[in-house]
Amino acid sequence: MKILFVNIKELIQVRTEPISFVSGKEMKELPSIKNAFLLIENDLIKQFGVMTNCPNLAVDKTIDATGKIIMPAWCDSHTHLVYAGNREGEFVDKINGLSYEEIANKGGGILNSATKLTATSADDLYQQSKERLDEVISLGTGAIEIKSGYGLSLESELKMLRVIKRLKDNYPIAIKATFLGAHAVPKKYKDNKDGYLQLLITELLPIIAKENLATYIDVFCETGYFSVADTELILKAGQQYGLTPKIHVNQFTSIGGVQAGVKYNALSVDHLEVMKYVDFEALKNTKTMPVALPSCSYYLSIPYTPARKIIDNGLPLALATDYNPGSTPSGNMNFVVATACIKMKMTPEEAINAATINGAYAMGLEKTVGTITVGKKANLILTKPIHSIASIPYNFGSNKIEQVFLNGKMM
Ligand code: NIG
Ligand code: FE
Repeated sequence: MKILFVNIKELIQVRTEPISFVSGKEMKELPSIKNAFLLIENDLIKQFGVMTNCPNLAVDKTIDATGKIIMPAWCDSHTHLVYAGNREGEFVDKINGLSYEEIANKGGGILNSATKLTATSADDLYQQSKERLDEVISLGTGAIEIKSGYGLSLESELKMLRVIKRLKDNYPIAIKATFLGAHAVPKKYKDNKDGYLQLLITELLPIIAKENLATYIDVFCETGYFSVADTELILKAGQQYGLTPKIHVNQFTSIGGVQAGVKYNALSVDHLEVMKYVDFEALKNTKTMPVALPSCSYYLSIPYTPARKIIDNGLPLALATDYNPGSTPSGNMNFVVATACIKMKMTPEEAINAATINGAYAMGLEKTVGTITVGKKANLILTKPIHSIASIPYNFGSNKIEQVFLNGKMM
């Protein structure tokens, strides 16, 4: 199956040489071709260039993209998309003035979602999650990471991870699974956090490894949740089972989580709303990707990750949604990109690099998605007619996407 896109107003994020990620000043550069063509064959990008070089060949379909832009589909490297029900009650508590911490302390928060998930069958959980996945695909997401962490028991964590696996088996979108057993201490282990950590390490990890249910291991390293020592214990155990760290750090407090991540070669450290000088320093010259989650800051009214300081320090930055029922009930990467520009002062070019190739790197998928490169997956966003790529963040809240292609197929 060959599809030829012609008269593309602008083809964005074209990279003839493969790259892993972009950092610092490079993030401002978003290479593109104006008045372009793009040829895809089956699931892969085959050829692209200026219209004057467009090949004259027999194809199955020609799509005229006059006035429209084509770019790689979004790469969302941090979500908790598999969850049960919702936390709309807490949403109202929040409007009435309670903080995230106060809601958690009165029995809401992650434990509330864990109770709901435990009471939900695997089939129901799959159906609920599938609806969210369909929605984010229609909003342009072409690769996604999904975490466990609302189970908090042997059975329920496995239920979540098996639902993620089922989505992976049934969908064309690339899905990476992360084991986040250390998301909160469940009620049953209220006074025995170490006992819970041992359950994760001695009982869950061997099954996860045996059934190949996760690639990454995560911990909510935060005051009141898991300490740096707990984090190191879990990361070390995860690594023994072949899982790579990708962790929640510095959402509310800077307690050394970034340093722990770097020490254990984390692929990414995510959140980073609260950053000290030592946290920036720890990330320099490492392979660990900082990840910002601006819709979480927006929803919780907490500080935004200091993107300018991160990038101006020469570091890379990825953007992701954090889609979850408690701190970010939205999986819309277009909104993330808009919020990054509007609130974090990233340029559209920086935000798009952060939401494509850098997000791909933060999932270990940089060789297959995240740029328009020959041989990569044909995971594409075809926009409606728009003025320029800046229209996506500029017209925040409107949907500029006309069509999404995953593995070369129209969604
Ligand atoms: O990434 N911060 C920890 N975990 C999620 C939120 C969890 C919840 O409130 O359900 C996050 O924001
Ligand atoms: Fe998260």
